Amino acid sequence: MNTTKAHTPETKTRRVTVRHTRAQDVPRLIELQRRTYTMIEPWSEAKFANQLEVFPQGQIVAEINGRIVGTASSLVVMWDEWPVEHSWAEITGSGRFDPHTPHGRTLYGAEVFVDSSLRGIGVGRELYRARRRICRALNLRRIIACGRLPGYATHAGEMDIDLYCKKVLWGDLTDPVLSFQLHEGFRYCGVVPGYLPEDTESAGYASLIVWLNRMYDSSRPTHVAEGDIL
Ligand SMILES: CC(C)(COP(=O)(O)OP(=O)(O)OC[C@H]1O[C@@H](n2cnc3c(N)ncnc32)[C@H](O)[C@@H]1OP(=O)(O)O)[C@@H](O)C(=O)NCCC(=O)NCCS
Repeated sequence: MNTTKAHTPETKTRRVTVRHTRAQDVPRLIELQRRTYTMIEPWSEAKFANQLEVFPQGQIVAEINGRIVGTASSLVVMWDEWPVEHSWAEITGSGRFDPHTPHGRTLYGAEVFVDSSLRGIGVGRELYRARRRICRALNLRRIIACGRLPGYATHAGEMDIDLYCKKVLWGDLTDPVLSFQLHEGFRYCGVVPGYLPEDTESAGYASLIVWLNRMYDSSRPTHVAEGDIL
């Protein structure tokens, strides 16, 4: 899928493209994930392989000039069967995506990250755009995710997490992840404590967010596509 032109001098002539993840992409994704998070273990090759086995249409990568610069990983869940206060490990099967439920109606965002040297030039936007396209193609009702709140660490001594999120919503503060997700059209639904305990930057909290698919047709079944969607 051809998408956008990036804006920095380094990348101004380069185009961001998004496609489905392939098995041979996994070593590069592990390398990127290791560089992205200091306190969170990168997924093993076996976890990536299982994700591609259970839901290949939900796994995507962004490329610039053929080099992978970001990724987004999703599964489908029966959202009504999950408590609001779930953990990342529970709903993703600790990253294996075994809870993937093909007849569910909710695309669940399990992970998104962009090469730290290439943030702010539209790569995340294209990954989110592709995720919305997958949601529509599968006739799913919505996308739900629990986003990290890495900006909270520097404010934790001054305010509780609810006030922090409100200040981000009000525009008084900017969070590197929640502000991006709000910008991408997601609605904030509250805080989930203990979502990812090892995420110390977010003090283990996550923001529950939703994007509604206005093209969702409840009279039609979930369309479980074969092959590529993008
Ligand atoms: C969150 C993340 C994926 C965003 O990716 P990105 O490529 O930097 O985002 P983009 O450049 O595509 O930004 C898309 C839009 O959001 C806006 N945006 C991005 N970050 C923003 C911020 N902190 N505040 C306000 N707006 C922001 C951009 O201005 C852009 O707007 P535009 O479309 O009008 O130009 C990236 O920062 C990242 O990888 N973070 C580390 C991993 C992580 O924590 N992932 C979240 C897991 S829940």
